[in-house]
Amino acid sequence: MTEGSGLIRGLEGVVAAETQLCDLDGANGRLAYRGYDIADLARQATFEEVTYLLLYGELPKAAQLDALVVGLTAAREIPREILQAYRAMPKATDPMRVLQATVAMLGMSDPDATDNSHGANVRKAVRLTSQLAVAMCAHHRIRSGQEPVNPVAGLSHAANFLYMLTGERPGPAAVKAFDASLTLYAEHELNASTFTTRTIVSTQSDMHSAVAGGVGALKGPLHGGAGEAVMRTLMEIGEVTNVDAFAERSLAAKRRFMGMGHRVYKAGDPRAAILRGMAEEACKQSGQFKWYEMAVKLHERIAKEKGLIPNVDFYSAPLFYSLGIPVDLFTPVIAAGRIAGWCANIIEQHDDNRLIRPRADYVGPKRREFVPREKR
Ligand SMILES: CC(C)(COP(=O)(O)OP(=O)(O)OC[C@H]1O[C@@H](n2cnc3c(N)ncnc32)[C@H](O)[C@@H]1OP(=O)(O)O)[C@@H](O)C(=O)NCCC(=O)NCCS
Repeated sequence: MTEGSGLIRGLEGVVAAETQLCDLDGANGRLAYRGYDIADLARQATFEEVTYLLLYGELPKAAQLDALVVGLTAAREIPREILQAYRAMPKATDPMRVLQATVAMLGMSDPDATDNSHGANVRKAVRLTSQLAVAMCAHHRIRSGQEPVNPVAGLSHAANFLYMLTGERPGPAAVKAFDASLTLYAEHELNASTFTTRTIVSTQSDMHSAVAGGVGALKGPLHGGAGEAVMRTLMEIGEVTNVDAFAERSLAAKRRFMGMGHRVYKAGDPRAAILRGMAEEACKQSGQFKWYEMAVKLHERIAKEKGLIPNVDFYSAPLFYSLGIPVDLFTPVIAAGRIAGWCANIIEQHDDNRLIRPRADYVGPKRREFVPREKR
């Protein structure tokens, strides 16, 4: 691009949309969904209420919440062909690949698949929120040689998730921690995956196509994949007494510390503080407090040495691990929360759309003569 180039690498600080969904104050470490502080939502609202808030604009009254729960429950049955596909997939396949394929397949059978109207988008959002959770648990069961566990009417979205994953009824503390985690992951402005979903629908493509793209973006270790990488780091360290030696080696090798640092938050990620408290409790409950102790020690050391803050994915790692979630399902679980925000952003984009199409600075060779094949 020659016309007044203003290259901004990584689009840092660029404002690319107006939104009513997420108020992210990076300088002061504050975050709110539609005006409600994230700490209040995580502590006092359910993920279903937060989903309603994001999709409809207000916290639901009792009857409105009931109607949403009816919609989520009705969508829980996923097409049989998807379960058959899971049986045919290689057992060792990354569950995020499976999730991406699942979203594409769900789009093939959704009655509103290519309808981008507001009403159809809300209906699809409710179905996807429900189906993603059912699908990832069913896939996990099938790859582990077990049959999928049917959801139970009357259990919340979070409780059903843990039940469908393990086949065991989770306790109230585990349900609360998991439910709050889904809320904390539900929405986060123009993060890479949400921006991806907006870019896709800005072409007037549809919600399933956009969410499949969002899953692909979330998978990377600089985004949602960081949580899994944090847990693998803690496992590599092994014991609390090894943290200092690990930190020294890693600092000397200029290694990137997963779950640390953030593009927007510089003073602190408000989600991390809440997750830290829940991780402490869950690690105590599970009898494996060492994961929490290691995380705290690593966090403090790296913060001191490099001034990096722990982000949302740092303490969610020991938390998810203590809740019995397999490490390679951490990123799919994040998707199970972020689906609400993706869909709400897709709806906002469709409702007030302009094609997202930035420019690039051309830095290749100058114009030159074409050389025929025999003369190269
Ligand atoms: C999130 C993240 C991608 C933001 O990155 P960014 O705004 O593009 O910042 P950069 O990658 O340009 O990093 C800026 C500087 O901080 C350093 N830095 C940032 N995060 C770091 C980390 N986690 N570990 C070590 N160094 C880090 C970089 O090495 C770079 O240093 P330099 O200028 O000396 O080269 C980055 O902090 C990161 O990679 N974190 C780990 C992955 C992660 O947890 N992702 C989940 C985010 S919610």
